[in-house]
Amino acid sequence: MAFIKVHNLRKVYRIGNEKVYALKNIDLEIEEGEICCILGTSGSGKSTLLNMLAGLEKPTRGDIFINGTNISLLSESKLASFRQQNTGFIFQSYNLISQFNALENVGMPLMFKGMPRKKRDRLSAKMLDLVGLGKRMKHRPNQMSGGQQQRVGIARAFVAKPKVVFADEPTGNLDTKTTDDVMRLMVRMCRKYNITLIVVTHDIEIARYTDRIVHIIDGEITSIEANDSVYKAEDEQNDQTDNKTKREDDQK
Ligand SMILES: Nc1ncnc2c1ncn2[C@@H]1O[C@H](COP(=O)(O)OP(=O)(O)OP(=O)(O)O)[C@@H](O)[C@H]1O
Ligand SMILES: [Mg+2]
Repeated sequence: MAFIKVHNLRKVYRIGNEKVYALKNIDLEIEEGEICCILGTSGSGKSTLLNMLAGLEKPTRGDIFINGTNISLLSESKLASFRQQNTGFIFQSYNLISQFNALENVGMPLMFKGMPRKKRDRLSAKMLDLVGLGKRMKHRPNQMSGGQQQRVGIARAFVAKPKVVFADEPTGNLDTKTTDDVMRLMVRMCRKYNITLIVVTHDIEIARYTDRIVHIIDGEITSIEANDSVYKAEDEQNDQTDNKTKREDDQK
């Protein structure tokens, strides 16, 4: 079975007597380690689909399997622990905790897992280094730029090495250059740890970084196309730099 399998998925919202068919009949399979984009205009159902894949909302009908588990059948508490063990989420508006510094924000998923403070701080610091924020560990969200906050958001999503990361318009509040940095960073992390990534966006430029583009219109998938990610060459270069740095570190 595919790593993620969506079958016959439907979401209907009721407002008074009105019904909104946010998702009509979604079937989709995503392989492990794949970087997948869900592309569509505003109101097409992207966030609804992503929230259901991430177990944040219940479908009206249909099944979602992640790594063999039918998450639609899990109780609230089982679902919460499944999310903790297997998933990360990146938000358009970062959703960092304002009273916490970068290190503490990144450590949140590890805290929920019951990891002791020292180990948590060590792993979070390593992650912040990896996203280029080694010098911003003690900064609180309002002491960082948007791009820096999103890099904290990325570090938080990846710190517990989840199986899958969901991202809803992760670059929606960023300029073009920062968007490029953030997209490259996310793809690089996924390749490095073999993590599956699902990015939701209305922006075709974002889709270019991914392996597959799922087009969604009015709650229906209209086409799926394979894509040659623009990132590959750079990715390999970076990984080589990583290895070189690591070798240098090892020699010290
Ligand atoms: N909680 C809700 N109650 C009622 N209708 C909703 C709710 N959430 C979403 N909808 C409706 O479902 C449809 C899909 O919304 P969704 O947020 O998934 O779109 P989207 O593709 O993410 O759009 P955007 O790009 O603007 O974020 C819309 O018509 C929206 O009005
Ligand atoms: Mg949305």
